[in-house]
Amino acid sequence: MTGIHHMLVHFPIAFWALATLLVLLAVLGRGRAAQIAQASLLPLLLLSLLAAVVAIVSGFLVWPWQANLYSPMVRNHILMAFWALAVWSILAALLWRAGKTAFNGKQGWTLVFLALLGSGLFAVTGTLGGHLAGAPTAFSQLIAALGWKLYNTFYLPTWALLLLALVGLGCALLGMLGRRRSS
Ligand code: HEM
Repeated sequence: MTGIHHMLVHFPIAFWALATLLVLLAVLGRGRAAQIAQASLLPLLLLSLLAAVVAIVSGFLVWPWQANLYSPMVRNHILMAFWALAVWSILAALLWRAGKTAFNGKQGWTLVFLALLGSGLFAVTGTLGGHLAGAPTAFSQLIAALGWKLYNTFYLPTWALLLLALVGLGCALLGMLGRRRSS
């Protein structure tokens, strides 16, 4: 049964890697290549979200909850999988709402930022999975060098959570002000 998860996770990983390249091409590229990247990004993102949900569900179906939640490494793996899904869902929602204008100016840079953040998160998810399956990569050493202790549960200090909440509120306020100004 474990083979099912091992097989299914390749889909979100491959789709998200391709989506990152397409975002860079769509925002920073020019001409026909940029047009193709812009047109194909949303369908690819929708496919990637479906693939990620299937991969996540397979993780919960293949191994018992108790075993999953008992291990700090699996907890970290699950946490990163959900963060990656959240960031790529936000990117897809922005693209859905803004359409072609999402690639221009500041909005384009927001897509680039989210795509790079999402890539980092799925890379950490995958590398933790590799660790769990007994195939650690050099990328885990980079995470460890950054100060993340792979064998302990990841957590954010309370001040960082408060800071994130403030940044979120600030972004919502800026969005509301921007909308009022444009109407
Ligand atoms: C987007 C979501 C996910 C991705 C991209 C992902 C990725 C991976 C990868 C790349 C591996 C290593 C497979 C290999 O070496 O062949 C792995 C293993 C593993 N994953 Fe996930 N995973 C995801 C979600 C989950 C979730 C939600 C759970 C648990 C509820 C989970 C539990 C595990 C476990 C326990 C292993 C170790 C397998 C073993 O020991 O053989 N994964 N995952």
